[in-house]
Amino acid sequence: MKKVGILTSGGDCQGLNAAIRGVAKALYESEKDKVEIYGIADGYRGLIEGDYRKMQKSDFSGILTVGGTILGTSRQPFKLMRVVGDDAVNKVDAMKKTYKKMGLDALVVLGGNGTQKSANLLANEGLNVVSLPKTIDNDVYGTDVTFGFHSAVGIATNVIDCIHTTATSHGRIFVIEIMGNKAGWLTLYSGVAGGADVILIPEIPYEPEQVLDVLEERRQNGKNFSIIAIAEGAISKADAAMSKKDLRIKRESQSALPGAGYRLVEEIDPEHKLPIRVTVPGHVQRGGSPCAFDRVLTTRFGAAAAKLVREENFGNMVALYGKDVVSVPLSETAGKRREVDPDCGEVRAAKDIGISFADE
Ligand code: F6P
Repeated sequence: MKKVGILTSGGDCQGLNAAIRGVAKALYESEKDKVEIYGIADGYRGLIEGDYRKMQKSDFSGILTVGGTILGTSRQPFKLMRVVGDDAVNKVDAMKKTYKKMGLDALVVLGGNGTQKSANLLANEGLNVVSLPKTIDNDVYGTDVTFGFHSAVGIATNVIDCIHTTATSHGRIFVIEIMGNKAGWLTLYSGVAGGADVILIPEIPYEPEQVLDVLEERRQNGKNFSIIAIAEGAISKADAAMSKKDLRIKRESQSALPGAGYRLVEEIDPEHKLPIRVTVPGHVQRGGSPCAFDRVLTTRFGAAAAKLVREENFGNMVALYGKDVVSVPLSETAGKRREVDPDCGEVRAAKDIGISFADE
């Protein structure tokens, strides 16, 4: 009997259940009744604390379109994995102990960058790990795309579409803050898809005056509204030039401004003379049913992960490379982030049609 554990870790996203289903169905299909699947609760927390349950085939039916994760998830920061806290628990030892106690032949891990790092750690500790890349941020290194991303792009684009109509009716400037602290993929894609006039992302620090120039130019051209799509982690050139410590002190002094969108408004309109509104869709972007693209991608990723388990090809993450699903060694991807290249085709095309990144 083959015993396989599955866990979902880090922030949730659309397609987690579809991916779990893909792994499970592919395993049941190839192993028939020679496989037992165990669901580990709340990501690495369940592995640390020995919180898991044997799943039934029926658990994986009817979940293709369901958002969230049937296994639950939690954030267990990688940097704390080897830190023994007040509870005196050595997390790595505890996870190895649970794995052994469960008698697992393989552990399938679904997660973003932090999760992949911990998966690599466990692989290096001798556990048979296979992973799948998920996150709405699309910043997992080693894959062209993560699942969850295109579903979130759809939601963020819809937000921009809706804001567009009210912005034009009232002749207002809207700042829409899109998720993505370290990577601007979601803002870039939804900004382009939603026809934003200005796109601000962490990888391309901006000049606030240039944002103002765009607004003024549009006004002079008879456009009574403007749309600015800004990533959570977008940063001005001045702030990007500061030391980490000085920036932290500055951010503490700006605690009345709850995010990048509101900070931008203070930078470009400190006297509040412009008709500006800020919209923050927040976790809405991670919720709901996966889009068709993600349903196909998670099915492919799930089947590929099951194949890696079947072939005992451990220590790998499944990934999309061009049109193909491939596997990449966790040792090559863990600890790296896939950020937006300021010179990539998507940015260049956006600039070619006049979208400003306020960086020139
Ligand atoms: O990693 C996905 C993500 O949604 C980021 O875009 C965002 O910065 C972060 O998670 C929010 O984290 P939390 O759900 O812990 O508030």
